[in-house]
Amino acid sequence: MTSIDLSIQPERRKRAIQRVRERNIIIPTFAQMKDPSLIPDRIKQELGQVGLWDLNPRNLYRITWKNQPVATGGGYGGVNYLELPSSLTGTPARIVVLVGKWFPTGAHKVGAAFGCLVPRLVTGQFDPTTQKAVWPSTGNYCRGGAYDSALLACESIAILPEGMSAERFEWLSKIAGETIKTPGSESNVKEIFDKCWELRRSGEDLMIFNQFDEFGNYLWHYEVTGHAMEEVLQQVMGAKDTYRGMASATGSAGTIASGDYMKQLFPTSKVAASEALQCPTLLQNGFGAHRIEGIGDKHVPWIHNTKNTDLVVAIDDNAVVNLSRLFNEPAGRAHLVKMGVPEALVRQLDLLGFSSISNVLTAIKMAKYYEMGENDVVLTVLTDSMELYASRLVEMHQEYGEYSSADAAADFARWLQGQSTDNMLELRYTDRKRVHNLKYYTWVEQQGKTYEEIQEQWYQHDYWTEVQKLAPEIDALIEAFNAEVGLLK
Ligand SMILES: Cc1ncc(COP(=O)(O)O)c(C=O)c1O
Repeated sequence: MTSIDLSIQPERRKRAIQRVRERNIIIPTFAQMKDPSLIPDRIKQELGQVGLWDLNPRNLYRITWKNQPVATGGGYGGVNYLELPSSLTGTPARIVVLVGKWFPTGAHKVGAAFGCLVPRLVTGQFDPTTQKAVWPSTGNYCRGGAYDSALLACESIAILPEGMSAERFEWLSKIAGETIKTPGSESNVKEIFDKCWELRRSGEDLMIFNQFDEFGNYLWHYEVTGHAMEEVLQQVMGAKDTYRGMASATGSAGTIASGDYMKQLFPTSKVAASEALQCPTLLQNGFGAHRIEGIGDKHVPWIHNTKNTDLVVAIDDNAVVNLSRLFNEPAGRAHLVKMGVPEALVRQLDLLGFSSISNVLTAIKMAKYYEMGENDVVLTVLTDSMELYASRLVEMHQEYGEYSSADAAADFARWLQGQSTDNMLELRYTDRKRVHNLKYYTWVEQQGKTYEEIQEQWYQHDYWTEVQKLAPEIDALIEAFNAEVGLLK
């Protein structure tokens, strides 16, 4: 098995080229997503008239961390990031976060979808003229996939659990060809996989882009998010500072690939994987329902590089939902200002969606566990923003009533300043293997991988190192494809 199949299917590729030409599509390279200064001026000018979420094919060039933070007509700047002060985090360590809101669709998952789709498109393996693209997900990946499919003019099917936020469904109804709701909520990933098997057996001509086992997802984050992190560090680190590690929830275990990239640059740094305490699969082989939308669990993704995961952290979903109120309700913001958090930062706390809050808490716990000080830097990402959870705030308002200053004081003290080093595990070799072994139940017992493949992944074949080298090869395929489409002249 190879990590990403780049074999060419000439006849299908010709049809893909024809379709892409008809729809006026030009595909960006990984190099351009990392460094938008490589994007031709003509495309930048066209983007001057285009909204960030518009269904305009030029928005493929906005699959980057470097979009200007505006809703329409933005160009490119540096990586969007924030540094969170210790008045907020309760740790002297420097916690720096990349901001995902400024991707089209409002979440970086549009990049993971690109990483899975584009290698198949430019090789001719996926034929957009005859096949539907299927996007199994807990929300943002299928939003990203449906969006990329619409830009690339192919039909799409989005699959996600029925319990996800209303905002996800409203938007999907306008973009995806079909939206399939599977039973359950966030951590019901098995039900999504079951639906994929049903579709496969239906005989319909479709291609399933399964982010949980597609190394294109890993590659996109290794290349694009990893480089963005490196650039942010170059900006924020002083002579006395040390980069100590990266924290990320593992939904599909794509984002955490950026931690692998950073660890190659800083070999003493750590990679922390987090999940919900209410569903502690990595920590305890556990299961359960939770409310940190986007991070799934009850299984270990095939692409999770367990061999390189140093720390597992479980975050209480009560912390996340209560902090979303603290960060967004007027009484919460007033309390934060009273506690010395700079007002300019408080005004931006809606940049943190639910899993972003969880990622920040993971970074805080990591900093406390390793006893980090003011010269230690931890990185994490804000995958999406509160733009996708406004309905949840309304629901909480209805269920729990007005958010008072007493609520704010309690949440600040308990869920931020009170974060401790509970529910964490530093992984030894045998712990990493235990997490890897959990893949057996999903991938071999249910999803058609073989006993040999799971053994090979641990003992013989380092898929992750292999995939880390593939971006230049894929970029060459993209460039050849664009040249045949002929729109870049
Ligand atoms: C809101 C949100 N947070 C976190 C994640 C997890 O990221 P990853 O799938 O790259 O592990 C996702 C994935 O869909 C998500 O939608």
